[in-house]
Amino acid sequence: MSERPTKAILRVLEGEPVWPLPIWIMRQAGRYLPEYRETRKQAGSFLDLCYTPRLAEEVTLQPIRRFGFDASILFSDILVIPHALGQDVRFVENEGPKLDPITTEADLSRLADDLPLSRLEPVFETLDRLTRSLPPETTLLGFCGAPWTVASYMIAGKGTPDQAPARLTAYRDPAFMDRLIDILVRASTAYLIRQIDAGAEAVQIFESFGAALPPALFDRLSLDPIRRMVSGLKEARPQAKAIVFVRGGGAHLHRFASAGVGDALALDWTLDPAMILPHLPGQVATQGNLDPLALIAGGEPLQRGVDHILSSVRGRPHIFNLGHGILPETPIDHVAELIARVRGTAA
Ligand code: CP3
Repeated sequence: MSERPTKAILRVLEGEPVWPLPIWIMRQAGRYLPEYRETRKQAGSFLDLCYTPRLAEEVTLQPIRRFGFDASILFSDILVIPHALGQDVRFVENEGPKLDPITTEADLSRLADDLPLSRLEPVFETLDRLTRSLPPETTLLGFCGAPWTVASYMIAGKGTPDQAPARLTAYRDPAFMDRLIDILVRASTAYLIRQIDAGAEAVQIFESFGAALPPALFDRLSLDPIRRMVSGLKEARPQAKAIVFVRGGGAHLHRFASAGVGDALALDWTLDPAMILPHLPGQVATQGNLDPLALIAGGEPLQRGVDHILSSVRGRPHIFNLGHGILPETPIDHVAELIARVRGTAA
């Protein structure tokens, strides 16, 4: 018999209801924190911040010091995978990521077929440092992007409103798309396994662009690749836990649950947990899902949003989070208010 975990988030990921709910927030290290903006300036480029273990460790710890979240998520980005595979990736101030688009078989052939893990050594060193610097009750999360979301950036070379370039490629050139998805499934699985070996206790897979996929493409490009990643991870490292976040994937949530893909399913802010949770098959845990704009607004919308989630998930294994990443303009006081309300310590 393996020992029962004591960390609140790991207990929820084992299917145990924990109260008060454990809490962390997506993008908890980021520009809403003045100390992040300061370290970011010191680092120079965004990728330099990701690849300098001392600085990546520092920004990962900043929200833990300030708020005592129950989980700490590795500071990195989903686009380090295309970068390590050999694609040019830059982060342009106020514009977001820019990549040299991959559109032909010849472009694909220039990518590494197997992920050169040595290029990601600084990321693993950051995790290793965090295993020593985090408080003992804090769960260390690794992460990566889901293949469809990462492929969308690789094909378009940037973020696009509805991922039209990648979607069109999926229809016009299915062999190209399947080959790219396959490269990403294998690379991302190897990357997650190595993150677990470096000290991550659970990982989150971000399918940020799930909403763009029509039903005819969803299983091939999202559900099946994520299923392969989670089962590859668990075959190699049976103790590893996986949280799956498919933004815009509400219609497919019950199929992730019945296929057993993920120890927890993260809900985006459009879903009502009171309506969804009673109908989810199996014992899957859930995570989410306050609207990041309710957090910016604060006050009554914040309190009502939190209270609705708390009453909907009571008695179930649930991790409190936002329904997508925290936005840079969020007042820090509102984050403190949120945590107090979730932990039942509000004045
Ligand atoms: O959550 C955390 O605190 C960990 C760090 C983290 C970052 N990106 C840091 C980051 C995580 C988990 C991500 C994931 C990520 N990156 C996703 C999936 C999650 C989501 O939000 O849907 C996506 C789609 C990306 C790609 C990406 N990286 C974009 C579109 C941008 C620019 C947008 C923006 O907010 O400016 C980035 C840059 C980025 N990644 C920043 C941070 C803190 C901001 C850049 C900066 O500080 O200059």
